[in-house]
Amino acid sequence: MKFLKYLKPYRIYALLAPLFMLGEVTVDLLQPKLMSAIVDDGVLKYDLRVILHTGILMMLLILVGGACGVLSSVFSGCASQGFSRDLRSDVFSKVMRLSFQQTDKFTTGSLVTRLTADITAIQQMVDFALRMFVRDSIMFVGGIFMMLSMNVRFGLALAVAMPIEIVVVIFIMKRANPLYTEVAKRLDTVNSVMQENVSGSRVVKACVREDHESARFDVANTDLMSANLKVQKLVAILQPLLMIVMNMSVIAVIWIGGRQVDAEEMKVGQVMAAVTYLTRILMGIMMLSMMFQTVSRASASAKRIAEVLGTEPVISDGRGAAGCSGKGSVSFRGVTFSYPGSSGDPVVCGIDLDIAPGENIAILGATGSGKSSLVDLIPRFYDTDEGEVLVDGVNVRDYALDDLRGRIGIVLQKSELFSQTAAENIRWGNKNADEEEVRLAAETAQADEFIMTMPEGYDTLIAEKGASLSGGQKQRMSIARAVIKKPEIIIFDDSTSALDLGTEAKLQRALRENLSGTTVITIAQRIASVKNCDRIAVLDHGRLVACAAHQELLDTCGIYQEIYRSQVRTSGGED
Ligand SMILES: Nc1ncnc2c1ncn2[C@@H]1O[C@H](COP(=O)(O)OP(=O)(O)OP(=O)(O)O)[C@@H](O)[C@H]1O
Ligand SMILES: [Mg+2]
Repeated sequence: MKFLKYLKPYRIYALLAPLFMLGEVTVDLLQPKLMSAIVDDGVLKYDLRVILHTGILMMLLILVGGACGVLSSVFSGCASQGFSRDLRSDVFSKVMRLSFQQTDKFTTGSLVTRLTADITAIQQMVDFALRMFVRDSIMFVGGIFMMLSMNVRFGLALAVAMPIEIVVVIFIMKRANPLYTEVAKRLDTVNSVMQENVSGSRVVKACVREDHESARFDVANTDLMSANLKVQKLVAILQPLLMIVMNMSVIAVIWIGGRQVDAEEMKVGQVMAAVTYLTRILMGIMMLSMMFQTVSRASASAKRIAEVLGTEPVISDGRGAAGCSGKGSVSFRGVTFSYPGSSGDPVVCGIDLDIAPGENIAILGATGSGKSSLVDLIPRFYDTDEGEVLVDGVNVRDYALDDLRGRIGIVLQKSELFSQTAAENIRWGNKNADEEEVRLAAETAQADEFIMTMPEGYDTLIAEKGASLSGGQKQRMSIARAVIKKPEIIIFDDSTSALDLGTEAKLQRALRENLSGTTVITIAQRIASVKNCDRIAVLDHGRLVACAAHQELLDTCGIYQEIYRSQVRTSGGED
């Protein structure tokens, strides 16, 4: 089992847990024997002293056994919880390092299930192995030994009862195991329907899809119930069947024992003890079968986790470009790119473009023309299929990822904020920024004003995914987050689409004042947002059709003229 290394730091606990369990089992195994002594030597012989002494001994042993049991639980908990914490954090950091194309393939829901339910299944198995497995196997072997040591003839009852019980257990488990896999799968479906609906609750409400989605959830939920019921029905048969076998064999033991007592070859107390041992042995078999079930469930989970841990990020550090301290130039050389796994024309095709340090360039084009895809290649969210992207004259594949991404501030098309305070969200760009810097960045991004109107200003907690903010407020928070980083290159991917023209103009003025020397790449839909840029690159179906200043494009570029005309017409006169 390759996860064993996660138990290593906790090996002391992992050793102590079974050791103390050994103590508890030993006491458990001694009890019936002492009980028989009380009956045979005490009660039957009217010897109160034996009853008293053995009783006290039993009491003491019970206390010791109980203490051992508690300690075993505690140590096993320490080992298994520590184990799962470490494993979880390894899986988490792996997930964080995976490239987008890989996390997309796993899907968010499945990654969450792997990080939670699957790891819990393995943790339970570790806990079981350290305690239950030790207890039940010793109980089983020790029980047989103790029973036979009293009278070999009891072996007869065992020889009949044990195989029957084993057959019954295997029969039921064989049927139950695939059902458990089915239950896990259906739980996955319930989880993903729920996750989708909780995170998309606004859309569900807006589209009045509550009934439809509730029905979808009901189907998944009922499926889960019926799978669970099937398992329960099987387990419901198991219990009484085992009880029948157990009671029959108890009768057999009493019968064998009774005849021995009659023939004065055995004492009543010994028969009583034998009955207790027998029930323990048979219970042990049942518990061991549960153990196997836990193992099989955990091994399914282990496979799912190993799959994540075994995935190497396709985008990883290059050999480093430490000495390179450029000014923020970006070059695309014959860049072609398609999303992994998708077919058809490439989304970005044969792009050649040189962006000078400190240049203010815009990328314009119809929706779906590949603008976001093109800029995503700069911080290596994806790798090019052909051609190369250079930052400061060095191929992006040669940089260490942290170094490369440290040079770039990117405001993504979809603003993502986190459930932290406003200031903390902005500090994502630069964790060492002081209050003044945070405020300055917010001012530049035109976010200061609305942040100050929030109940606790910069200390106001932002709801998950920024749900407590308007679209434009989220965009400005994200801009502040990128600005505070003071990067060489800053990319705005449609970051002002939700701002009114007045605010946008103020923002652009502030950015010009505060980002002098920074290379600025602005993606926009509105020509009004970009016409003051040094150059505007026009994309059409993934191809670069022109790159020049506003006036020149108006004179020479057909596609640009078309976009311009359509915007002037719809906005009723722009410019
Ligand atoms: N993760 C992805 N996997 C597969 N295909 C994608 C992915 N993201 C985008 N695409 C496809 O790539 C093409 C270009 O998308 P892109 O997001 O670059 O367009 P865009 O110019 O930024 O559009 P918009 O102005 O609407 O933001 C689209 O046809 C889109 O369907
Ligand atoms: Mg886009």
